[in-house]
Amino acid sequence: MKLIFLGPPGAGKGTLAVRAVDILKVQQISTGSIFRAAIAEETPLGLKVKSIIDAGKLVDDETTIALVKERLAKDDVKNGYILDGFPRTIPQAEALATFSTVEKVINFDIPDEGVLERLGGRQVCRKCGFNFHAIFNKPSKEGNCDHCGGEVYIRDDDKPEAVQKRLEVYRAQTAPLIDFYRAKGLLIDIDARPMVDEIVVNFKKALGI
Ligand code: AP5
Ligand code: MG
Repeated sequence: MKLIFLGPPGAGKGTLAVRAVDILKVQQISTGSIFRAAIAEETPLGLKVKSIIDAGKLVDDETTIALVKERLAKDDVKNGYILDGFPRTIPQAEALATFSTVEKVINFDIPDEGVLERLGGRQVCRKCGFNFHAIFNKPSKEGNCDHCGGEVYIRDDDKPEAVQKRLEVYRAQTAPLIDFYRAKGLLIDIDARPMVDEIVVNFKKALGI
């Protein structure tokens, strides 16, 4: 199955994706995670995007589209994928349609208060990228990942100024994709407010699996 996970920052896209890859046996492709890995490794891409991401702005369409096009040309995504955080602009969605055919778009519906609560407590594993939360999903040993033992840290773009910017950017550039995909008959709205186990049940029901 070829899916897009669409929604505001902190909606829980990455958290559900980890569960969904197990259910659907497909790859998760998170543009945000690819950029964060490039930043950590100080590659030319990482050096180019670090200040943009830290400020909560979007990386330019040309760079992002080229990255996803290259990734979707690999063999491991022939049977399906979850695009987590791409497309984020109308030009990205139009470009995607020229190199892949998406089957469904899952729209994570959550008010701003929910986003602020989730991003305010998020803690991420530096090694495997797993998302913990200071209240909703604490690591069993503070500061260390339960899954790989990696160091757990707070993302630079989860600072309050960057979060406000990300919400603004989401409203201006990404939210128009809701109507774009609804008009194509691909959109499935998911209430992103409940705890993740309940969302998994609703996600499976919505896909009829
Ligand atoms: P990206 O990494 O995609 O960030 P984002 O969209 O802002 O989304 P997040 O990862 O912050 O949130 P999420 O929805 O995955 O929530 P999570 O599961 O972590 O992108 C980062 C940056 O890269 C962008 O700002 C941009 O600069 C750049 N970029 C990426 N893609 C781009 C593109 N296509 N074009 C241009 N630039 C691009 O959950 C959040 C927290 O809540 C966690 O702590 C989690 O434990 C908790 N939580 C999750 N679900 C639940 C639940 N159901 N109940 C309770 N707690 C929950
Ligand atoms: Mg994410």
